[in-house]
Amino acid sequence: MTATLASASQQLDRVGFLDLEVDPTLDLVAEINRLKKEKNAVILAHYYQDSEIQDIADYIGDSLGLSQKAAATDADIIVFAGVHFMAETAKMLSPGKKVLLPDLKAGCSLADSCPPALFRKFKEKYPDHIVVSYINCTAELKTLTDICCTSTNAVQVIESIPHDRPIIFAPDKNLGAYLIKKTGRDMVLWNGACMVHEIFSHERIVKLRQRHPNAKFIAHPECEAHILDMADYIGSTTGLLKFTINDPSQEYIVATEAGILHQMQKSSPHKTFIPAPPENNCACNDCPHMKRNTLEKLYLCMEHELPEIVLPDWVIREGRASIDRMLDISAKAGLISG
Ligand code: 13P
Ligand code: SF4
Repeated sequence: MTATLASASQQLDRVGFLDLEVDPTLDLVAEINRLKKEKNAVILAHYYQDSEIQDIADYIGDSLGLSQKAAATDADIIVFAGVHFMAETAKMLSPGKKVLLPDLKAGCSLADSCPPALFRKFKEKYPDHIVVSYINCTAELKTLTDICCTSTNAVQVIESIPHDRPIIFAPDKNLGAYLIKKTGRDMVLWNGACMVHEIFSHERIVKLRQRHPNAKFIAHPECEAHILDMADYIGSTTGLLKFTINDPSQEYIVATEAGILHQMQKSSPHKTFIPAPPENNCACNDCPHMKRNTLEKLYLCMEHELPEIVLPDWVIREGRASIDRMLDISAKAGLISG
């Protein structure tokens, strides 16, 4: 009933369980549910996960919702079906708990675009600036950050900063440019971007809208400005999902990672959801990092309680304050993200 563990320890030393084979006759859903109960584990999944992972999760949400859940859970083990920076955030918020990530290589192009050593030098040029970092950054970058934000609370975070304090915003230049427009605050931007949200084709979206004149075009603020300028609604993944539930239209063109369409379709089975087209015909609006997680890897990581997120104490201590500030601002603004 368990995986072939012949050379498990060597494999774990390298990357986790990637090379282990799972018995193909195993009922993975039943096994994962069994392990959840036995180990008092909770599965937190981001909307960009494969639908089968979303369907087995205890909670599905955007980055704010997931961090709120990670901070509040009484489970002994947090299994994070998402990417590395999200699991790190969960560990920082619940340092006494075991946090597992099914595939340690599930990274993020946005987080990678802002190496802490380079950012430290950049920050030295602006000694009087407050640093606001999008939560899509490494734990170490959070130690160089005053306040974190997500796409749900970014406006409230920026607005909480006194007008006479200049701001650095990292690492997403697209979200940063959107926030400058939305809040009227001038900010110094780090030049990072998400590989998924930068790929949408303006020309192909315009053509698609001509073929679907009644469809609303909705977009995530990680998209570039010329894409956001066309949008009927801009919001986080939870914001986009809620919009499609509450809005009376029947058709939507969705400019974000395609995983969110699963919950949109489940919540509004009679509506039509069309993924916004990328620059070419690749499946580029699937995030390759998010999609590294599979049901097999989820099972293996729960069975063997590995790979585990481990962070140095100083990173937890110095990085956590920026997340706590974000959660305080969100709570004061009544932002509870589903
Ligand atoms: P949200 O789900 O918070 O909108 O973030 C989107 C994203 O890119 C996560 O990697
Ligand atoms: Fe990172 Fe973009 Fe993937 Fe989100 S969708 S995890 S921002 S690469």
